Amino acid sequence: MLRKYLAHWLAAWVLAGGILGAQPGPAGGTFTAQQAAAGRTAYLGHCAGCHLPDGHGSAANDVPTLHRIPGEFVKVPRGREFLAQVPGIAHSPLPDAEVAEILNWMLKEYNAPYLPADFRPYTVQEVSVYRAVRPANIMKVRERILAELAAKGIAIDYRAQ
Ligand code: HEC
Repeated sequence: MLRKYLAHWLAAWVLAGGILGAQPGPAGGTFTAQQAAAGRTAYLGHCAGCHLPDGHGSAANDVPTLHRIPGEFVKVPRGREFLAQVPGIAHSPLPDAEVAEILNWMLKEYNAPYLPADFRPYTVQEVSVYRAVRPANIMKVRERILAELAAKGIAIDYRAQ
């Protein structure tokens, strides 16, 4: 399990930083207005039922907000992977290209002020690698990310969403 995870992680690292990082352009993490429009439509069709059309989720139903927190998560590699591994994505039949569009749209629309200066949109290849990993306990993964962010001085309180 751990070995499988490490292999995927290595592949993700190579894809994100090595091969694709060296190739700017359509394959290198750009995000066009057309992709944003597609991302919005896909979000409304596949995610808004739970996270609501404005992305604020429902604290009463334990559906997290998609504002600010994802923008903080992409500041650490494990957080960037996590966003493509949450159940709503892992269990959806959406193709990787559409998942990339949704994530990039969500980050741009709901998280712009929090994105790191060096943020690069998700590529389809990256989503494909991250998605192939299904953490057995996604909430434990989230706890580790929250601890990593806390160590960087970034505090996240879900009760205050
Ligand atoms: C059936 C309801 C449901 C749907 C549909 C759904 N989600 Fe979620 N989502 C949740 C819940 C509940 C959580 C909290 C984690 C958990 O309990 O599984 C969550 C967690 C998340 C998180 C992590 C947020 C955090 O701070 O931990 C992200 C990002 C996310 N969802 C994005 C999406 C996207 C994008 C879609 C559409 C492709 C989607 N979700 C579809 C219910 C849903």
